[in-house]
Amino acid sequence: MSAARRSGSAGHNPGVLKQSSLLFLPVIMTGVVVYFSIWDAAFIVGGAPDLSETVSGGKTSQPLYVGATLEAWRNGSLSGRQLHAELGLKDAVIPAIYNCFSERYPLLDRSEGQPCFYLRTPIPVIGTNTVNNPAMLRRLVLSIDVPVQVIVIVVNTIPGEAGKQDELDMLAAIDELQELIGRSFFKVVRSGCNRGCAGGWNTIVHSTLDSPWWLIINDDAAFVPGALRTLYDYVSSNPNVAFYKLTAYQVFIITQRAVAEVGVFDENIWPAYVEDCDYDLRLKLSGVMVASRPPEFSNIHGDPESGSSSSLIDTRGGGHSGYGQRSKCSHSNNRIYYQKKWNLSVPGCGRQLEGMFQTPHGNPSRNLDSWTFDEEVRARSESCWEPSNRVDNWLREDAASYYAQVSVPGDQPASNWGQNLIRLQPEESELDTISEVQSSGGKDDAHCVSPFAEI
Ligand SMILES: *[C@@H]1O[C@H](CO)[C@@H](O)[C@H](O)[C@H]1NC(C)=O
Ligand SMILES: *[C@@H]1O[C@H](CO)[C@@H](O)[C@H](O)[C@H]1NC(C)=O
Repeated sequence: MSAARRSGSAGHNPGVLKQSSLLFLPVIMTGVVVYFSIWDAAFIVGGAPDLSETVSGGKTSQPLYVGATLEAWRNGSLSGRQLHAELGLKDAVIPAIYNCFSERYPLLDRSEGQPCFYLRTPIPVIGTNTVNNPAMLRRLVLSIDVPVQVIVIVVNTIPGEAGKQDELDMLAAIDELQELIGRSFFKVVRSGCNRGCAGGWNTIVHSTLDSPWWLIINDDAAFVPGALRTLYDYVSSNPNVAFYKLTAYQVFIITQRAVAEVGVFDENIWPAYVEDCDYDLRLKLSGVMVASRPPEFSNIHGDPESGSSSSLIDTRGGGHSGYGQRSKCSHSNNRIYYQKKWNLSVPGCGRQLEGMFQTPHGNPSRNLDSWTFDEEVRARSESCWEPSNRVDNWLREDAASYYAQVSVPGDQPASNWGQNLIRLQPEESELDTISEVQSSGGKDDAHCVSPFAEI
């Protein structure tokens, strides 16, 4: 499994490279002290290093000749990619390098003398879901100040014409990032619809299935300078940990072990909220080890100016009007699904409660990772986000009777909730049957899932 795939074996005491007195450019003096997790290396001006062997082979005391290299890069006679090659990074990139000499984003200032980037064993995958905030995505990508092998971006689209425009704007912004940083380091998955939080996270995992672990972050968050510098060492020195809540589910690491023993996220929970409660419960039931952040880790979240999270710009796309009500509608359905799945007397997040099932739907033939995509539940939540459906035209349906009809052999009926499934309707219409619900909204999105959900 994962251990075999990890290259190198980083220890706990990162060697700090000595700064050469020949580095005279003030911005380089204060901006670029290179740390290396495995080897002590001198920071010497002149000559061309071959660090690629060092990175994978573990030679000690390999000198790093980067002073002139950095200068040549800064004055434009060396490309960013050539700089990476000089740093021994053939199969990885440090995106923050491309922002070393630019203005920092608010709250991402480096402290006095703090390096602009850290030379480390590469993080295998950093992934994010995004919808319609290109500026935040750019901030996030350029905040990655350690090497990374693959950046996965799942582009979700919300319904309507404005949503299509949002998608084009987002793709243009991603194209710019790829041009700047190098196309080969990106995997961009264009959903053409909204796979939601769980579906997007699963897409990240599926797109890079062999990775030993995945660092997943909200697109409205970003890494504080230096926050990532110990992360690879932290993860590789704790091989028994299956899941890391760096900042709850805003920034987390899911490992191969978690995927094997707990599974991927349940995509019946859509588009957001409660996927984390369900996963937390499964983590607890599985007994795998969950760790929190290393002390160095921190991130910012949202827009420091408005103080709010703004990965969804609600002044732009279709489907955003009445955001709060629409979100309440689908969130409520998510909670009911979650209660039903575990026979929970209250939709308490991640809590083990009296009488709850020990396997999904109380079905002994289901493992913890088992979920069955239910198009009809999705269609109800889809109706919450269909722009032509009115936010005040709610139809409530007895959840117990719905779930009594639809099940997989062996699934137990749950007895414990008192709420209704909700759908929104256009104007004053009253639809009664499931097939009508499906065609009333989100027909494109009824199958908007990751490859894990496809049957
Ligand atoms: C840029 O820096 C390099 C390395 O110090 C130097 O050799 C080169 O002459 C410089 N080029 C320009 C255009 O200043
Ligand atoms: C669901 O939980 C309740 C207790 O809250 C319990 O009485 C009931 O038997 C459980 N249902 C099943 C099918 O186990």
